[in-house]
Amino acid sequence: MVAALRYPVRSDLMRVGDLGAPTGWYSPGYLPLRTARDGDRSPDAEFAAKLKPLVGKAILDPDAGLTPPQRDDVGKALDAAFGTPAAPAVRVPSAEQAAALKLEEVFGEGLPEGKTAADALADARAEAEAAKDRLGLSDDALARGGVLYRRRCLSCHGPTGGGDGAHAVKAAAPPRDYRQGLFKFVTCAPAGTRKGVVGKARKEDIRRAVRKGIDGSMMPPFAHLSDAEVDDVAAYVIHLSVRGEAEFDTLTRVIQLATNPRDDDPGYSPEFAAQLVAQKLLLTLGNWARADAAVIPVPPENCPTELDRLRSAARGYKAFAGTCAGCHQDYGRAPQLKYDMWGTVVQPRNLLLGVYRGGRRGEDLYARLYAGIYPSTMPDSKAKAANPPAGQPDELWDLVHFLQALADPRERKLLQQLDPSIKLESGGG
Ligand code: HEC
Ligand code: HEC
Repeated sequence: MVAALRYPVRSDLMRVGDLGAPTGWYSPGYLPLRTARDGDRSPDAEFAAKLKPLVGKAILDPDAGLTPPQRDDVGKALDAAFGTPAAPAVRVPSAEQAAALKLEEVFGEGLPEGKTAADALADARAEAEAAKDRLGLSDDALARGGVLYRRRCLSCHGPTGGGDGAHAVKAAAPPRDYRQGLFKFVTCAPAGTRKGVVGKARKEDIRRAVRKGIDGSMMPPFAHLSDAEVDDVAAYVIHLSVRGEAEFDTLTRVIQLATNPRDDDPGYSPEFAAQLVAQKLLLTLGNWARADAAVIPVPPENCPTELDRLRSAARGYKAFAGTCAGCHQDYGRAPQLKYDMWGTVVQPRNLLLGVYRGGRRGEDLYARLYAGIYPSTMPDSKAKAANPPAGQPDELWDLVHFLQALADPRERKLLQQLDPSIKLESGGG
C-alpha cells in the first residue's frame, strides 16, 4: 500500500456531547454517526431521526463547519507538528513558539501555583520532551512503526487511526478510532477526572493489545512480531492518537468559533489554528506520560484454597447486585445498550460467556474493574480496592472471583451449593 503524501484532515462527524441512550442495534457496517449524515439513505431510519437534530450541537460536522482555507490552515499546522505518513514525528513546540501559547490551555486547569508564566512553559516543554523519550516517539521509531502499521493495521484502523480502514465495514465492534485519545482496556488510573487524562492507555496496554489481540472482537493477535516491532508500532499508534486528539480539539474549537465562541477567543486566524495544535500537543503528551506512570496496583489475591475463592465469590455476588447489575442486567444476558464516546453502540458484556477483551487473567479483570471502561461509561471501582482485613482479598478481588465463578458452569453450581440464596439463572429466578 502506497502511503498518502499527507495525512488528510478529518471530515467525518465528531461526537462532542451527550447522545442519550440508543434505541437498538445499528446495521452492521453503518455506524450511528454515519447514519446521522446520510439521513434518508441510511438503513437506520430510527437512528437518523434521533441523531440528525444533534448535528451542530452534540455532533459536529467538520465538512460544514470549516471554510476551505480554514481546513487548509489546520492541515498545515498538523503537518508541521506531526509530519507525514512517510516521515511521522511528534514535534514539541520550540521555546519561541511556546511563548505565544495560552497557559491555562497547556495545563488544562490553569497555571501551576507559585510559578511564573515563563517557568511554567519551560516546565511544560521539558515534560513533553521527557514524555517523548519515555514513550519512545523518536522519528526513527515512528518511521519504522509507520511501515508496520500500514502493513498490519491500516486495513482496519485506517490511515489516520480513525478506525475506518477498508476491512472495518462489517465489524461488530469497530476498530479503535485513536483520534479521541481514549482507550478501553487499560491498566492505569491517573489522578483526576479531567477529559484527556482519564481513558489514556499505558504504552504496555497497546503492546498487549497487539501481542494478544482483543478477544471477542475482530482484532487479531500479532504474536509473530518481535518485541522491537511491537514497540515501534505502539509508538506509531501513540503518534496517530496525539495527532488525532490535537486535530479533534482544533477542529472543534474552530467550528465553535462561528457558533459558540468563548469569551476570550481572539477570532479566527491561521496563527490561532497553529496555536491550538501546539497547545493540545503539549497538554496531550503530558497526559500520556502521567497515564504511563500511573500503573494500577494489584494486591495479592489471598485465596489459597478453592473454598476461600468461593467464599470470596459469594461476597462478590452481593457487591455485583449493588453496583453492576443495573447495566449488566441478568448478568449481561439482557443488557442496557449504551453509546460510547465515539457515538457507537456498546453492550454491557454478557458475563456468562467468559470472553474478556482486556485479558482473562485475574489481574487483568482486577485492573478492568479498578479503572472501569471510561469510554463506554462503565464506572471505576477503585474505592473497592481499599484495606481488606490482613490475609484476605479486597472487595475488588471478591468481584473478580465472582466473575470467574459466573463464567464457569461447575463453579456456578458450587457457589449455589455454598449459598443457596445466590440466584444466577436467567431472569434472576
Ligand atoms: C481485523 C481488524 C484489525 C486489525 C488488522 C487490527 N485491529 Fe486493532 N482493533 C480492532 C478492533 C475491532 C478493535 C476494538 C475492539 C473492541 O473495542 O472491542 C481494535 C482495538 C485496538 C486497540 C485499542 C485497545 C484499547 O484498549 O482500547 C489498539 C491499541 C489496537 N487495536 C491496535 C492495533 C494495531 C497496532 C494493529 C496492527 C499491529 C491492529 N490493531 C490491527 C481491529 C483490528
Ligand atoms: C454504566 C454501565 C455499567 C456498569 C455500572 C458496569 N458496567 Fe461493566 N461494562 C459496561 C459496558 C458498556 C461494557 C462493554 C464495554 C465495551 O466493550 O466497550 C462493560 C464490560 C464489562 C466487562 C468486560 C471487560 C472486558 O475485558 O471485556 C466486565 C468484566 C464488566 N463489565 C464487569 C462489570 C462489573 C463487575 C461491574 C460492577 C463493579 C460493572 N461491569 C459495572 C457497562 C457497565
